Amino acid sequence: MSNSNAERETWSTRIGFILAAVGSAVGLGNIWRFPFQVGQEGGAAFIVMYLAFVVLIGFPAMMVEFVVGRSTGLNAVGGIREFAGGAWKYLGGLFVFIGFVILSYYSVVGGWVLRYVFGSATGGYIGTAGPDEAPVAQQYFFDIASGLDALLFHALFMALVVLIVALGIKRGIELGVKIMVPAIIAIFAILAVYASTLSGAGEAYAYYLSPDLGYLIDNWKSIVPAAAGQGFFTLSLGMGVMITYASYLSEDENLGIDGGTIVAFNTGISILTGLIVFPILFSAGVSPGDPGAGAIFVSVAEALGDLQFGRAIGVLFFATVAIAALSSAVSLIEVVVSYAIDEFNVPRVRATAIIGTLIFALGIPVTIDPVMVDLYDIFAAKILLVLGGILLVTAVSWIYSDKALAELSKGIGSFSGIGTVWLWTVRVPVLVVLIISLYLGIDSFIDFLAGPFAEFLA
Ligand code: PFF
Repeated sequence: MSNSNAERETWSTRIGFILAAVGSAVGLGNIWRFPFQVGQEGGAAFIVMYLAFVVLIGFPAMMVEFVVGRSTGLNAVGGIREFAGGAWKYLGGLFVFIGFVILSYYSVVGGWVLRYVFGSATGGYIGTAGPDEAPVAQQYFFDIASGLDALLFHALFMALVVLIVALGIKRGIELGVKIMVPAIIAIFAILAVYASTLSGAGEAYAYYLSPDLGYLIDNWKSIVPAAAGQGFFTLSLGMGVMITYASYLSEDENLGIDGGTIVAFNTGISILTGLIVFPILFSAGVSPGDPGAGAIFVSVAEALGDLQFGRAIGVLFFATVAIAALSSAVSLIEVVVSYAIDEFNVPRVRATAIIGTLIFALGIPVTIDPVMVDLYDIFAAKILLVLGGILLVTAVSWIYSDKALAELSKGIGSFSGIGTVWLWTVRVPVLVVLIISLYLGIDSFIDFLAGPFAEFLA
């Protein structure tokens, strides 16, 4: 994001900031990633851990990024350099690297969404399978998730991201988010009501909403890093995106209330998505973990085949998801683009085009097979974002805590108590939990390499 005043003004209102931050947070993380993590990590047991992470770790960590952004008025990379300085400036380099990795596969999944807009229009995933064939909705996902389809739509998604950023249409994004959030809530609510009428709804709600604590205890080593990864991913934390957005805020803004609003919207949309996905999967007799990264696609396609006006609803649904994905993707590439502009003085349009092309290239291997999505995704969410979070929290809460406290206090009335609680929360419990999560995340990445990935290579 350039620092020109004209651009600075666009998000200088509170609602503009919240819209932009919600636009970044709400995306494929809620609609694609959340249900698939829930399905793989045992349903409600995962949700409990996820909610704990979002509230107890994610929210305070978001305040850390807000503090850096508002006090420096700079983007992710410049913000950390100015706030902390010294060797901490290399943290900006890590943020840029993370942005690269995440957007490269995010765009492939965004491409699937775009593909489904067309697939809905033609009804491609609707139909009855022959006796020895896989159900049509499942087969369709399998067909488009890799290969030429995936590659072309990955290219289309990246092209749209580059276009939006190169043209600098922030206002367009703001408008997009204003339409997107109510549209998501409306369309998703309709689908959730429909899902509640299905035969498998009862069983699905039990799976989704009543946690099996025994399962949680037995499987915490895989659930904890999954919840950490999902918490950071869904809230756009760990790579400085929220630094950039908070740089547009004025000092009389209460950061806690803004952060709470963002977290609440974001969490609500994830939970709502699950209320669609699981009743449909259970009713179709599909085990919730089986479709993996295809959970949202397979389940929604399954339902649309059944609904009146299914195709039209499908187009609306996937187009809305595409807007959500684009507004998040824009925040990801912006970290890299603003770095290039600041650091190398490249014009915005050229920087965006070059970076977009490089990210597209990095995503090409992901279109070979869905297992590649997992490879990139586990590495990015469970390792990189958590690592970024740990380093950022350490710098802000241990080394530059005076500055951080002073900044947080602006805009919060009866401050002192809350500030101290926040500081000690991030200093000790948040850091300890994140370090454990990182360790376990590395472990689960190694397991993945030795298991599914080695199988794929063999
Ligand atoms: N929060 C976005 C989502 O849930 O889809 C993805 C994302 C955006 C992750 C920006 C990280 C980030 F920095």
